Order: sequence, then C-alpha cells, then structure tokens
Amino acid sequence: MAKAYRNGETRFDPTTVLVTGASSGIGAEVARFYARADRTLILWGRDAQRLEQVARDCRALGAGVRTQVLDLRDGGAAIAAFRADDDRHPVDLLVLAAGLGDMRQGTARTEHAETVLELGLVNYATPSALATAGAERMVARGGGHIVLLGSVAAFHALPFAPAYSGSKAGLMRFAEALRNGLSEYGVGVTLVSPGFVDTPMSRRVSSAKPFLQTAPAAARLIARSIEENRAHLVFPRLFSMLRLLDIVMPRPIRDVILRRLKADQAPRPAS
Ligand SMILES: NC(=O)c1ccc[n+]([C@@H]2O[C@H](COP(=O)([O-])OP(=O)(O)OC[C@H]3O[C@@H](n4cnc5c(N)ncnc54)[C@H](OP(=O)(O)O)[C@@H]3O)[C@@H](O)[C@H]2O)c1
Repeated sequence: MAKAYRNGETRFDPTTVLVTGASSGIGAEVARFYARADRTLILWGRDAQRLEQVARDCRALGAGVRTQVLDLRDGGAAIAAFRADDDRHPVDLLVLAAGLGDMRQGTARTEHAETVLELGLVNYATPSALATAGAERMVARGGGHIVLLGSVAAFHALPFAPAYSGSKAGLMRFAEALRNGLSEYGVGVTLVSPGFVDTPMSRRVSSAKPFLQTAPAAARLIARSIEENRAHLVFPRLFSMLRLLDIVMPRPIRDVILRRLKADQAPRPAS
C-alpha cells in the first residue's frame, strides 16, 4: 500500500480513497480527480441520486466505486460505517469534504439554536471523529493521509455566521493538533481553507463572492497539497493575508470592521 510521504521518501499514490460530501461540489470533483483504473473510491453523501451520478462518472474513468448514503449528524453511525468500509478496503486517503454553510437569515438577530447544533455536528464533531477513526487505522498500517475541509470563515469572528465560522475554527485547530500528533507515524494531515468556490453551497450566498474559483480547480489544488503533504492550503492566497491582518489588528478596530460586515444567503433546500 502507498504510504504518506515523509521527507520526500515515497510518492503518495493512494490505492483506496474515501470522500465524504462526494455527492456535490468540491467533494464530487475530488472524487472525479482521483478516479482511475487501479483505484477504489468509497463515496459518501446524503442524496442517493446525485451520489450515484458521481459514482457513474468515476466508474466511467475506470475506478472501482462503492457508495454510502449517510447523514453525518449521526456521528456514531458514521464512525461505524467508516470502520466497516476500512475493513473491506483499507483507506489510505480520507478526504472529509462534507460540510454545511449557513448564516443568520434576513433581519433575524440570532441564528437558530438547532442550526448551531447541526453545523457543530456536520462541520466539526463528525469530521473530527472520522479523522480520528482514520488515523487509528492508518497509524497501525504505517501510512496514509487525511484531509479536512475547513474555510477561510474560520479566520474571522463573523457576526452573521457564528456557527459556521466557529465550527470551522474548531476544525482548524483540531486539524493542526492532529497533524502534530501524527507526524512521527507517517500519516499526513492537510487542512484546506477555501475562499469562495462555485458550488451549490456558495450559490446560495447573494452577497459578493470575490475571487470565485471553480470546483475542479479547487480539487486540483487539494490534490497538489496532498502530494506535497502540506499542513494548510488556503486559496486564494489573499485570504492568508486577511487572516494575518485579523491576528495583528488591535481587537477594538477589528471588532468595528467585523460588525459592519454584511452577508446574506438563501435558506437551505429541505433535506
Ligand atoms: N463552496 C465554497 O465556497 C466553500 C468555501 C469554503 C469552504 N467550503 C467547504 O467545502 C466543503 C464542500 O462544500 P461545497 O462547496 O462542495 O458544498 P456543497 O456542494 O453544498 O456540498 C456539500 C456536501 O456535504 C454533504 N453534506 C451536507 N450535510 C450533510 C450531512 N448532514 N450528512 C452527510 N453529508 C452532508 C452534501 O451531501 P448532499 O448534497 O448529498 O446532501 C454534499 O455532498 C464544505 O465543508 C464547505 O464548508 C466551501
């Protein structure tokens, strides 16, 4: 089996790739990117029809494909499903792309408590638990790579999206800590923090989306960062500078700027 490369020793060439959120957007494009004849792809999503369409595309490119329809709000079921998948096909690349975007609606003064809970589960708790389940197995096998999809929203305390920026900030810190904890075991961890990528999630945002990227371009950047065993991929790069600015700016000034920010997003389609 391929090993995560350490010190440039081995080229990382995964045999089995598991992607969550493979039914749409960035996850679907990551799946298509890795689809080829000598690979097994395990594709997770909620919408069975869209997931099957992505599976068909990947099979047409020669990959062996298994699909799993699963709601990540049930973290215990997700851990059990991961272990069952990994028993059949040891996963050497785990891409945790599933996520939910949401923000305070219209003139509402707060988010809904239920939404905050849901984003905490889908954006932070379940992916962190799945990354750990993957890490246990990969450490035992002596190699592998885990990718967590965060967001540049993690860099800023966005007043209109506390649940989204908070859940992605938690994921960011988790990914950094996991990478440090696994560094001596040949398992790589990459946190990916995109700006705006043209997917169903970002299409619901009605405010400006500067430097919008396509999902296939995002998938290529993610694949390159895995190949390079990068700790953190931020794209477009401008957002790294905004992050730095957020860190160095005196809090009173930063808070005034953040409180003036406005954004709006159409409600999520019923699932
Ligand atoms: N697009 C952007 O501008 C952007 C920017 C920064 C970060 N991101 C992050 O990138 C990742 C991918 O987002 P995307 O833009 O590709 O969005 P997307 O097209 O809406 O795809 C989201 C994926 O997550 C899955 N998902 C959502 N809730 C789920 C749940 N409860 N259980 C299982 N799966 C669930 C969806 O499954 P179904 O469709 O089958 O329901 C879908 O496959 C997310 O983590 C997102 O936060 C995106």
